[in-house]
Amino acid sequence: MKASSANVEYNNQADSYSSMAILQLARTYMEIPTFMQLAGNIKGKSCLDFACGSGFYSRMLSRLGAKYLLGVDISSKMVDIAKSYPNPLDSDIEYICSDLFNFKTDKRFDLVTGIYLLHYMQNQEVLREVIKAAYDNLDSKGSFISFNISPNINQQKGYYEKYQVDFEFPDIVKDGTEFKFTLKIYPDKPLLFTCYYWSKEVIEDAFHFAGFKSIEWISPKVSSYGKIVLGHEYWQPMIDNPWCLFIKAQKE
Ligand SMILES: C[S@@+](CC[C@H](N)C(=O)[O-])C[C@H]1O[C@@H](n2cnc3c(N)ncnc32)[C@H](O)[C@@H]1O
Repeated sequence: MKASSANVEYNNQADSYSSMAILQLARTYMEIPTFMQLAGNIKGKSCLDFACGSGFYSRMLSRLGAKYLLGVDISSKMVDIAKSYPNPLDSDIEYICSDLFNFKTDKRFDLVTGIYLLHYMQNQEVLREVIKAAYDNLDSKGSFISFNISPNINQQKGYYEKYQVDFEFPDIVKDGTEFKFTLKIYPDKPLLFTCYYWSKEVIEDAFHFAGFKSIEWISPKVSSYGKIVLGHEYWQPMIDNPWCLFIKAQKE
């Protein structure tokens, strides 16, 4: 099986990624508010954070009242950073360094999250098995919320540059095609990651293969603060064609 580059790339850029990702404006004004709306009331729930990275969403879910949080990531450096944060008061958080391919625990969770996950899956077998792992670790009433590069992403270089991200796609893009993603919070300190393109059909097929009963695609919405702070015009290209989309899937 072709090895994923994510482990090496995130280990090498763990400190920079962890400090820069929170400065991305679309994360603050679109991704987080939409995520919170989709997650709803998670007080007392148990959550499994796939690709937890440095634990940004793990801590957030705990502060929102999750009774138990397990974060899993393939990069040991990212997990070390996650562990270095003090846990929010009264919260129970654990982190495990593991590949999500076939990941299993004895516990069952009310919510599985995977924020920036599926575009790191390097072939269709891995894509299917990681989505199946989310399904298998969910309680029967549970849901899986993930946020991934949109199958309809605008592949033109520079289209998303004002949102601090850029992409380099080859001329022909099909399922499994490798492309480069650059996080450009500081133009002189770009962070480069290898990703894989997945179409809507292949992603939906993987969710059905896993056993999910329903799948919903959701565009991130600009919060009212985002419109006030940066103006409607700033957001229009992103609203027209968001670079990432949420998927919310119900187990039953
Ligand atoms: C862009 S980061 C997102 C981190 C976190 N979800 C957030 O939003 O801050 C993507 C993470 O996916 C992890 N990852 C990629 N492939 C993985 C795999 N097969 N198993 C576990 N983690 C993986 C990387 O190590 C990295 O930490």
